[in-house]
Parts: sequence; C-alpha cells; structure tokens
Amino acid sequence: MKRPKFKSPGKAALNPRLQALKDLLAWLAQGELKYPQRSAFETSGSFGLYKNLLSQAVRYKNRWMHLTSLLTDRPAHQLDPEVVGAICLGLVQLSPGSGVEPWAAIDESVALMDLVEKPFLKGVVNASLRRFQRDHEALLAGLDETLALGYPKWILSRWGQFYGEAQAKEMALAGNEPPRVWLLPHPELGVEGLSALLAGQGFATTQEEGRLWVPEPSGLFESEAFVTGKFLVQDPASQAVAELALPWAKGRVLDACAAPGGKLCHLLWHKAAALEEVIALEPVLARHQRLEENLDRLGLEAKVVEAHAEDCYDPKGFDLILADVPCSATGTIGKHPEVKWSRRPQDFVNNQKQQLLILEHLAGMTKPGGTLIYSTCSLEPEENQDVVAAFLERQKSFAVEKTGDQPYLLCLPRLGRGGAFAAVLRRNEDTLLQPPTPVEPC
Ligand SMILES: C[S@@+](CC[C@H](N)C(=O)[O-])C[C@H]1O[C@@H](n2cnc3c(N)ncnc32)[C@H](O)[C@@H]1O
Repeated sequence: MKRPKFKSPGKAALNPRLQALKDLLAWLAQGELKYPQRSAFETSGSFGLYKNLLSQAVRYKNRWMHLTSLLTDRPAHQLDPEVVGAICLGLVQLSPGSGVEPWAAIDESVALMDLVEKPFLKGVVNASLRRFQRDHEALLAGLDETLALGYPKWILSRWGQFYGEAQAKEMALAGNEPPRVWLLPHPELGVEGLSALLAGQGFATTQEEGRLWVPEPSGLFESEAFVTGKFLVQDPASQAVAELALPWAKGRVLDACAAPGGKLCHLLWHKAAALEEVIALEPVLARHQRLEENLDRLGLEAKVVEAHAEDCYDPKGFDLILADVPCSATGTIGKHPEVKWSRRPQDFVNNQKQQLLILEHLAGMTKPGGTLIYSTCSLEPEENQDVVAAFLERQKSFAVEKTGDQPYLLCLPRLGRGGAFAAVLRRNEDTLLQPPTPVEPC
C-alpha cells in the first residue's frame, strides 16, 4: 500500500530548511524550541528533513558553534545570527549520514540568505561551507571529547561520577541517536498482530527484546492503524514504568501527573476491567488536549481534572497512585536534545522540593495497603533515589517494594531508547487516611 502524503495545507507549505533556520535562531536567542505541526509541511518527507536538521543542529550545538568560529575566523557571537544558523545547518547537512548531497547542502544553505533577505551574507556562508568540505578531516580530528560528543562537560563528568566513564559515554551516545518510534500494541493484537497489521499498511517493524519499533515511520501518524487506535507510541523505558504499575492496579486509581497520558493509557488498556474509577490530574491546560486525544483515539475513559497534584484531596483514597512527576528530563535527551543545554547542575536539587511536596501530598491519599509509584524521566540521583530516601525518612507508614532484586527500576538510555526511574512505595495496612493540609476536593 502506498504511504499517505499530507494534504496540501490551506496556506503555503513551510520550507523545511527556512523553518529550521527560523526555529534554530529563535531557540538560540530565547532558549525555546517549538516544532510546527507535521501538517504545516507539504509531505511527511519535508517534515522529516526539517525535524532532522533542527534536532541535529541543537544536538551538537557546541560543535557547530566551535566550527563556525574556526571557519569564519570570528567568534560566533560577532557574526550575524542568520549566518551562524545557516552555517550550522549546512554543517549538519555536510556531515556523514545526513543523506544530503554536498552540493545541495551548500547551495541550499547559501540560498537561505536570499530567503531571509540578506543576500550580502551569501559569500561568507558559501566560503565557510566550502572550507569545511575541503578541510573537514583535520577540523573534525581536532575536536575534544565534549565537542565530538556534543555535550556540556559538566553533564559528562557527573554521569561519569554516578555511573562510571564507560556507561556515561554510552548514555551520551544513546542521547545522540534520533529516538526510535516504539509502539505499544493494542492488547488484543499483541506484538505479532500489530506487526502484521502494519506490514499490510506499508510499514515494516522491528522487534527487539519483545518490543516493537518502526524504522521508517514517515506517514505512520496518518495510517489507519494509528487513527483507529491500534497502538500507542511509547518508549521502552516508559513501557517498563507502566508495567511496574500493572500488578498494583485495582479499584480507585489516580494518575497525579497525567499528560500526555502514555502510562495512563497503557494501564487502562491492560487493567480497565479491574478498575472502579480513574482520575487523571494535569495542571497545564494546553497539555489536556494531547491527553484527551490519546484517550479518545484509544477508546479509553478517565475523569480528567485540571489541578496540581498538591492542591487537591480525595477523602476516599486510592488503591494506586502514579506520581510521574515533573523533572529535568535528562533521560529524554535523544528526543529533546535541548534539555542538555538548558539544564544547570543546581536544577536537580531545586526540583527535589516540588517532587517531594507532590509525593508527600499523594501519600496522604494512598489507601492503607495501597501503592504509590514515584517515577521520573531523569537520570539524576537527586531527583530519583534521593527523593525516595527523603520520603521514606518522613513517611514511616511506607516501604519500598523491590523490583526484582533491586530497590527501584532504573532504565539508562541505550541506542534508540530513553531513560527512566521508578520506585514502588507500599503503604502499611494498619494506617489511617489523613489529609496533610486542607485542600480542594479532586
Ligand atoms: C513527566 S510528565 C507526565 C507524563 C505522563 N505520565 C505520561 O506517561 O504520558 C509530567 C506532567 O506533570 C505535569 N505537572 C507539572 N506540575 C504538576 C503538579 N504540580 N501536579 C501535577 N502535575 C504536574 C506536567 O504538566 C506534565 O504534563
């Protein structure tokens, strides 16, 4: 079957290289990275080109900036931002594996200067990229490890300190891989059934350790299988966290930090029959849409409430509470490369305060004998085991339920996979539900 093309959008389709330049410059100036909708591009191929150019430019920001300075013989901050952006995007396209012919990489980067109405800057972009084409071996050989890997030095050294040098390098390399599109199949289909269904719709899949991913996902989100809710996109680390919750899912369930709803949908798909009531909290209204869309597409139901976890109380209590708290997200650097440039070491300690506040508040709504699952997509001990240790120190009615022979689940990023942390906290039977402070009912 032929893969679907995007319909022509009402207004002119976005030019992928020009849009990548605009969004790169906005990110460099304001630190905010926003991707337009796929449907704003003419085809899924041009969306793919845009996304790849922008992600690679962000991923190796320090390397491209360093090379731009060398190639222009000027510090990057003294150059026009458009020149910096066009050279960075040109270098991305001239790098091995970009899939772009070198002549096109240079011509298209130079042409961007016309599109931003700065034709007088064409010469410097052209000369810099031609110089890179000529001298790239020596230039690349001269990069130190942080420039070669594309990470701030402090992240590599803290990961080295916590996980060992070799593991830290593997994690950094994993974060440099564009993330794979991993699928959680509808339970009635299972991995084999979904794989066969997708093959019939023109999408080859690969199985790894019992999980499924799509090597060429272009057009997947317009496929019938997606639209009719036959799968959910979920990284193996997130799948593992949701699987940890499955045995404890019964009665009343609260997903306290729910959007976009991956773990909630996973749970509902597999355990809906065992559940009496499911409440999903999410304070950010803009994120409700994704949550509601996922629930609707998969035909699942939950009561979605706009609230901060620490601001509401339900006196009936819950048998299972998921606390997938906001965090630094350093386990998602493959998908969100900007994370490694925007975080500061102090953030991890600062985040603890809110994480502990949420967790302790939720403790008060966990039924005696119930389960509270604390999880993050952070690789930083301050946000993970340190929060759990501080919680246990103060909440004597809770104890850790081991996962296998470990006190918690820690998935470190591997090729094409993100990272996550989770701990299962069980409340003793012989305790009483008590609201920690007077707060709004959910
Ligand atoms: C890691 S994401 C949750 C991912 C989700 N569990 C999933 O599997 O798709 C954390 C979510 O918590 C929300 N959040 C932020 N502050 C919160 C708070 N105080 N209480 C509850 N949720 C909060 C964020 O807006 C974000 O949507």
